[in-house]
Amino acid sequence: MFADKLRFLVKYLKYKLFAKYRKGYGIHSPFLYDLVRNVIYKNPNYYVLDDIAELRYDLLYSDEEIFVQDFGAGSKVMQSQSRKIKKIVKYSAVTEKYGEMLFRIIQKFKPNTILELGTSLGLGSLYMAKSDSKAKIYTIEGCSETAKKAAEHFKRLKAENIEQIIGTIDEKLPELLSTINTLDFVYFDGNHKKEATINYFEHCLTKINNETIFYFDDIHWSKGMEEAWKEIKLNKTVTLTVDLFFSGLVFFKKELSKQNFTVNY
Ligand SMILES: C[S@@+](CC[C@H](N)C(=O)[O-])C[C@H]1O[C@@H](n2cnc3c(N)ncnc32)[C@H](O)[C@@H]1O
Repeated sequence: MFADKLRFLVKYLKYKLFAKYRKGYGIHSPFLYDLVRNVIYKNPNYYVLDDIAELRYDLLYSDEEIFVQDFGAGSKVMQSQSRKIKKIVKYSAVTEKYGEMLFRIIQKFKPNTILELGTSLGLGSLYMAKSDSKAKIYTIEGCSETAKKAAEHFKRLKAENIEQIIGTIDEKLPELLSTINTLDFVYFDGNHKKEATINYFEHCLTKINNETIFYFDDIHWSKGMEEAWKEIKLNKTVTLTVDLFFSGLVFFKKELSKQNFTVNY
């Protein structure tokens, strides 16, 4: 565990010191320049983001505990099954910085059908749902207690475009894919293990179109996740990838030449 934490820290320091293209400087590809400059680094001010920030604040001060069933790689920090909501928000939920970036990505590319693997308390789903009320968000969560809390948050923020699916991703993903024609955006944030990540990636690949975007969380979280990320980058359907250290974006646009970028974010 210590060796793993050290590996992660060293990786992060190297990324912060050596990754280029901060704010888009030095990028030649017009598509990537626009993405970095106007989406990843843009700082919009929308009242809906205040609503999500307010919810996050309330959860961070909540003393409520729930009984959590973990179907994934587990947490490096939380070991007990009875977990405080505030700790789940602190250690498992999407951060404000990355959540707001998700919001901007959805706003820019306007995907119709969005899938999130791993709802947790629903903050990630809310950033996406509130970015575009016309988008339909499917979100899968294995832990029923956690999903129940997420449902309360969706109700509080009146997010009617989210459909919750409760069950393991292994079981529910193939079921869902058999009912939809295409996936425009997938947020992979469920089971952070190599085999599971590759398995979900391959399932979702069957429903991509030219404009589909995959967004992977925690691509450097463990050696296994790094191996999964390497394999994803090598996949022949993938054209552009953008490594933001805590997450990675994958594009399939045929008009883009195959390139992998690491952007300092
Ligand atoms: C990192 S959290 C998700 C955070 C959320 N996407 C966000 O943006 O705030 C991961 C969630 O995935 C769920 N999960 C992990 N493995 C799973 C599996 N195999 N099937 C279903 N849910 C799973 C966990 O219960 C946990 O709530």
